[in-house]
Amino acid sequence: MKDFIAIADFSAGQLEALLARASAEKARFVSGELPATCPRKTLALVFEKPSLRTRVSFATAMVQLGGSSIYLAGEQIGLGEREPVTDVAAVLGRMCDGIAARTFAHETVVELARCAAVPVVNALTDYSHPCQAMADLMTIAERGAGPAGATLAFVGDGNHVARSLASACTTLGMDFVLACPPGYELDAEFASSLAGRPGRFEQTHDARAAVAGATVVYTDTWVSMGQEAEKARRVAAFEDFRVDEALMAAAAPGTPVMHCLPAYRGVEISAGVMAAHAETIFTQAANRLHFQRALLNALIAEGGIG
Ligand code: CP
Ligand code: NVA
Repeated sequence: MKDFIAIADFSAGQLEALLARASAEKARFVSGELPATCPRKTLALVFEKPSLRTRVSFATAMVQLGGSSIYLAGEQIGLGEREPVTDVAAVLGRMCDGIAARTFAHETVVELARCAAVPVVNALTDYSHPCQAMADLMTIAERGAGPAGATLAFVGDGNHVARSLASACTTLGMDFVLACPPGYELDAEFASSLAGRPGRFEQTHDARAAVAGATVVYTDTWVSMGQEAEKARRVAAFEDFRVDEALMAAAAPGTPVMHCLPAYRGVEISAGVMAAHAETIFTQAANRLHFQRALLNALIAEGGIG
């Protein structure tokens, strides 16, 4: 597999192998023994949306592997406007050794992967965020909270982060429950694609019931990048889905809370819950870097995920 576009493209065994590699990368990082496996390699970072974690983790990972990265903001290259996605892919594929792309339309990343001769990584689209899900599964395993036999309750929007987490959890034997207001569920086509997976997929409108059965509680912003015009409607709709002290009282004592960040304290998560779970949440962010190195080693240094 040349690219990393969707969790669903990979078997449980392939995902487990990637997670094991990420843990090994973290151990090497801690002991200061990172080999330069990508010398003189360059990664193009094509970003149509803002980013802190994803951009910094890819750029830092490339430096740590002995290579470098080039940040290309969407408006600077005019993806699909100044020139077609196919031409951008053809050019970057002839100059760079890989492309990490954050786009609005998921089809843009798919088209880049189809047309570029080099690996393409989904760095978040409106549809999915697979690198986030992998770093999160790594964090869950480190906490001894799964995946096998455990339940992740995602309280919030049925968005790209939820979709990739649902895909990763259910593939790896972890139950996934989305608690959201009516109208904000994950789409039926995606939901039916998860039937028969080792982990169970469920959607509910009862946040208390979801967290009561959870091994891990997860949340994300109610208003994702590109949805700013819907902010008032969304904030009103999600009022009963805030991960706060009152909701967490329904969870088993000690249940970890996760957040992909950026977090909006007092909106989707209370300041107190955020502070109480900061160690887990910032470990999720740190693990983005270790997973990114594992992924770039597989795709760029070794030519793909077997
Ligand atoms: N969690 C995440 O992807 O953060 P950024 O949007 O800052 O990259
Ligand atoms: N869902 C949020 C955070 C993604 C990392 C957004 O898209 O803004």
